[in-house]
Amino acid sequence: MKPAHEKYIPFVPIPMQNRTWPDKKLTAPPIWCSVDLRDGNQALIDPMNVEEKLALFHTLLDIGVKEIEVGFPSASDTEYVFLRTLIDGGHIPDDVTIQVLVQARPHLIERTFQAIEGAKHVIFHLYNSTSTLQRKVVFKTDMDGIIKIAVDAADLIYALSRPVLAAGMDLRFEYSPESFMGTEMDNAVLICQAVLDALHATPERKVILNLPTTVENCMPNYFADEIEYFIGKLPGRDSAIISLHPHNDRGEGVATAELGLLAGAERVEATLFGNGERTGNVDMVTLALNLYTQGVDPKLDFSDINKIRDVYERVTKMKLGERQPYVGELVFTAFSGSHQDAINKGTRYMEESGSEYWEVPYLPIDPADLGRQYEPIIRINSQSGKGGAAFIMQHNFGFDLPKAMHPEFGRIVQEESDRLGKELKPERIYALFQEEYVKADTPYELLEYRFSEQSGTGGKNHVAFSGKLRHRDTIFEVSGEGNGPIDAFFNAIHDQKMNRFTFIDYKEHAIKDGSDSLAVAYIHLQDKEGKDWFGVGLSHNSNLAPLRGILSSMNRAERHTHS
Ligand code: KIV
Ligand code: ZN
Repeated sequence: MKPAHEKYIPFVPIPMQNRTWPDKKLTAPPIWCSVDLRDGNQALIDPMNVEEKLALFHTLLDIGVKEIEVGFPSASDTEYVFLRTLIDGGHIPDDVTIQVLVQARPHLIERTFQAIEGAKHVIFHLYNSTSTLQRKVVFKTDMDGIIKIAVDAADLIYALSRPVLAAGMDLRFEYSPESFMGTEMDNAVLICQAVLDALHATPERKVILNLPTTVENCMPNYFADEIEYFIGKLPGRDSAIISLHPHNDRGEGVATAELGLLAGAERVEATLFGNGERTGNVDMVTLALNLYTQGVDPKLDFSDINKIRDVYERVTKMKLGERQPYVGELVFTAFSGSHQDAINKGTRYMEESGSEYWEVPYLPIDPADLGRQYEPIIRINSQSGKGGAAFIMQHNFGFDLPKAMHPEFGRIVQEESDRLGKELKPERIYALFQEEYVKADTPYELLEYRFSEQSGTGGKNHVAFSGKLRHRDTIFEVSGEGNGPIDAFFNAIHDQKMNRFTFIDYKEHAIKDGSDSLAVAYIHLQDKEGKDWFGVGLSHNSNLAPLRGILSSMNRAERHTHS
């Protein structure tokens, strides 16, 4: 590569003192305008057909977008037909405004007026290019020439709008100095003010001034400076709605929009998932949900994000990346052990504290807000830690493993993942749990059992256990007493050469089993060498579950010691 400074001309920031935008806060959403059906569509390898455009239009309505640029009707027949389909087919709700784009050329402006006939609310969007570079290499004209193109077009639009307005259409105007980001700011002010004047903008009939980063060329802070400067210098500021139209060439479209809003813009033109020319337009989903996670209601509904993604992928034939913010397949998944552990602790904290706020590390948004609650938040591979497997067991299958058991089960799962060299799905983790603990029912088997209970003095119960056990080929009777069923059983087997274990801990809870419920008991024993052995017993009978759990621990100890 050539030395960069010999090839590329860096952006020259405007000199700016006392900028105010860094201290501002976003407290309300912008006016949203979708340009999916125009900017997004024109950038597709196969532009959408009418059916596909209609599906996307209705999706945008479901999301709650109220201003939708539906095309460039003078540019192609499909665009014209689509607009007519929307109007004649009654697809546009009364509270939605459609927007149509047109170049500053008289015959295209006239054709666009024909295309919008019969619509109730329309934004007529005029643009021409204004940047230093475009003036030099494309139009070969000076700023006066560029201003004349815009003003002549605006005059014509204003004249043609008179009868349309008189006939009752709610017709508004928008002007875009295309390539605004590469235009000298004083020239941008000049041309925009000239257009405001030509369109007779007033505070009561504001004109939208849409300021695009047609090609993103600078850091978002410099762009914010431009916006603040522009707004400060514009004589007719009160007669304008300042709109942004960021593209994403430097991957900074969202930041550009956010800082541009801080700098005083009120409206954003965006596309779903950032579709659009080259690297795309600013992503409406990310922008809106970034606001949402900062406590600002974006007034857009993304509560079924997968459905929106499915429509988007079908009609655009584009595939969303697995790491696409808020929607990608992997964006709510943690593989790393420490992340899994923290998510696990966060969700427990939420349950235990009853906190109304979302306070889960590593998850900036509650996936359930986007309809993603059924997806595995934690996925398990060989890098996953002790908390991950326990999280899956709890969230997917209802087993609340005691904390002391997490490292052991985590290790079992990790070894299996290492052995297979791939991620383990929840079903495989459940199967491992079953094989390792629940089905550890030999060599010790409980064949028969009986309990009898007597109330003792001081409200204390006394329980006697007797039963029959098998150890390989030997069957023997056992009996014992204690202050509860577990104690009685443990004492019974303790007297039968099974005394190499100490009882450490026990936990039991119910889990749903169809319409019924099952008791699950987790038993923690320790052998003479100080090694911990966990066992799990399952039964519809809550007295039997812990007995099975004790035998499961002992059986595992025997299996592992002899294997
Ligand atoms: O990116 C751009 O400058 C545009 C204009 C037509 C608004 O799409
Ligand atoms: Zn654009």
